[in-house]
Formats: sequence, C-alpha cells, structure tokens
Amino acid sequence: SAGPAIAEKLLAWYGREGRSLPWRIPPGADETPDPYKVWLSEVMLQQTTVKAVLPRYGRFLRRWPRVEDLAAAPLGDVLAEWAGLGYYARARNLHACAVAVAEEHGGRFPATEAGLKQLPGIGDYTAAAIAAIAFNEPAAPVDGNIERVMTRLFALKTPLPEAKPEIKALAASLTPKDRPGDFAQCLMDLGAQICTPKRPACGLCPIRADCAGYAEGLAEVLPYKAAK
Ligand code: ADE
Repeated sequence: SAGPAIAEKLLAWYGREGRSLPWRIPPGADETPDPYKVWLSEVMLQQTTVKAVLPRYGRFLRRWPRVEDLAAAPLGDVLAEWAGLGYYARARNLHACAVAVAEEHGGRFPATEAGLKQLPGIGDYTAAAIAAIAFNEPAAPVDGNIERVMTRLFALKTPLPEAKPEIKALAASLTPKDRPGDFAQCLMDLGAQICTPKRPACGLCPIRADCAGYAEGLAEVLPYKAAK
C-alpha cells in the first residue's frame, strides 16, 4: 500500500501519544530497561490494571531494588507486600522466580524467550514481553489489547480463542526487528487508548487507512468470541 508501512505509522504515533510509564524508557532510546523491572511490571500487569499497578510498582522496587534482594526476602513479606493486587499464586511464583534467577542464573535473567519460559510463573505472554522489551529479541507478546488490535486491523473473523495462533503470527510479521519492545508496548497503548473494546476512537487512529475492520464496518464488533 502507499505511504509509510503500518509499523512506521504506529511507532510515530507511539512517540507522540504513548503513555510514559515508570517501567518504560523513552521510545527509540538506544538502551534497554532493566530485565528485573520489566519482569516485575509484566507480572503485576497480568491481571491488574495499569492504574492499580502504578502506586505499587515503585514501592515494591524501593523495598527490593534488585532480584537478589527479592530472592533473599521471606516469602511472607512478599505476600504481604502483594496484598490487594490479587492472584496470590503470582506472588509465590514471583518469589520462586527471583530465587531461581539469583541462585541458578547468577542474578541475570535469561535473554531469550525459550530461556525465560523455563522460569516459575513465566508463560508465553510474559516470556515474549520480557524478551522483546528488555532484550530486543524479535518476540511478539499477545495480550488482550493486542488481540483486539490485530483482529480489527486484519478483519479476522475466526473467533477467540481459535484465532490466537494466527494473531501471534500477524503480530510477529508486523514487528520491526530493531524495535520489538517499543512495538509491543505501542500496540498495548493503541488498544488501551484508541482501539478500545467499546466505542473505539477510529477518528484518531494512526492506521485507520490500513484497517480492514474499519473498512468493513466491523471495528467495534471484533474480536468475535466462541460461545462459552
Ligand atoms: N500491560 C501489560 N504490559 C504492559 C506494558 N508494558 N505497558 C502497558 N500496559 C501493559
């Protein structure tokens, strides 16, 4: 199609309109954020909103600034600090993961998606997110926001969850090799701010001209979900 590619338009939008969040570094920065901080933010954000995570993230890091500090903490202290964030299995896994990184990996997180997935509490999504954001690996994390953006952009009518592998492949195919972390977080922000579940702000969307869902009048109704 004419004009800049989809990823270029998205990253330009991300530079202007992306959220500045404490676990991020500025878009396009010539460095990567601390894997420990990226991991902590992604685990906190798995089932908790950005708004609820914000006041807890900095507090947690002030108490345990490095993965070795968290590994050395009593589990009970970690569970108490987690209070209110919900899903306490996450806090147990968080501690187990810190112990594994500190004791079995010399305090450094594995730098690949496959290596990360071996650790307690790190599944497909989290491994891909950390690999892309902290290590610039060409990984494509897919969360609910990204599912919605992809099904709309490509007017994918296959219902969830069946569409998941196709969504992952489409996200991977769009991901620029030099900025996978910015690109993933850009899609999260587009999903949170523009390509919202209800009443998407298509009038403000940087890729409306590329959006098959918009062209077909389906932006607001996608993604389809299999009947429970
Ligand atoms: N949700 C999950 N990971 C996120 C991130 N890195 N930024 C914003 N929202 C998120």
